[in-house]
Amino acid sequence: MNAVLLNANDTATASAPTAGSPLDASVSTRAEAGRADAVRVRHLNKHFGDLEVLRDISFGVGRGEIVALLGASGCGKSTLLNIVSGLESADNGDLEINGQPAARFRDWRKLGYLFQEDRLLPWRTVRENVALGLEAQNVPRAERQRRAMAALEMVGLAGFAQAWPHQLSGGMRSRAALARSLVIEPDILLMDEPFSKLDPQTRTQMHEELLRIQAMKNATILFVTHDVEEAVVLADRIVLLEPRPGRVREIAKVPLARPRLATDRDVAEQTRLLRLKVSQ
Ligand SMILES: Nc1ncnc2c1ncn2[C@@H]1O[C@H](COP(=O)(O)OP(=O)(O)OP(=O)(O)O)[C@@H](O)[C@H]1O
Ligand SMILES: [Mg+2]
Repeated sequence: MNAVLLNANDTATASAPTAGSPLDASVSTRAEAGRADAVRVRHLNKHFGDLEVLRDISFGVGRGEIVALLGASGCGKSTLLNIVSGLESADNGDLEINGQPAARFRDWRKLGYLFQEDRLLPWRTVRENVALGLEAQNVPRAERQRRAMAALEMVGLAGFAQAWPHQLSGGMRSRAALARSLVIEPDILLMDEPFSKLDPQTRTQMHEELLRIQAMKNATILFVTHDVEEAVVLADRIVLLEPRPGRVREIAKVPLARPRLATDRDVAEQTRLLRLKVSQ
């Protein structure tokens, strides 16, 4: 079981949870109080040309915490994740990684990014795709192969190590991409709709696997989803975004112990309450 800690720093968000919100009751987050957040975004704005995409976005992700970005299509979730990963720059506002301004943060190898599209290289086998991040870290070949195989086993694709990406189904491709992001054992994992192409049963398995790995490494996870139930099952806190321009509407804690199953009554109830908010 995960430790249950009430994080005193948790109020350091621009948009505090709405008082009386069913999701913000006294809850646990696994972030460790007293240490800098793994990710902190303050008053961030972003335009693409004339299009205002993100307005005054502020939130933090504590170390070892799992935070979901939940919002409608086009509200700027991928853009926000690209900014946190350093691939895209904001117009203004602050981004800190492990307590340092992102511009001074050097250890980007510790940050894994699972993109919305799988980005598998068609000329590499599945195993070679998974091993890609390790090449950049100059990990010796034999170790690369061993770790890539272990990651493929974790996502149930060991039998497809030598296959080419075009020989995989959509769900298998996204599991291969998940293996590629896990193989580097990131301290911070950014994931953009990682499970959206999976059938419900595989998705549940992947949720359990992800939580197991996260607890083992105490990794920090910031992930994007459209799926309210997925956010409730996985996240310690949920950043609810509203569209045009993308803004933080609310940051809600998920007041449920783990493990959480989609079939649990409490999970179903929290999902229902959050769906009501999303549709408001
Ligand atoms: N490189 C770009 N140049 C111009 N406009 C862009 C660019 N990237 C995204 N946009 C626009 O920014 C807005 C937000 O896009 P983004 O991909 O961040 O949304 P999203 O919330 O991830 O959507 P979805 O849930 O459909 O993936 C959209 O209107 C999109 O058209
Ligand atoms: Mg997106």
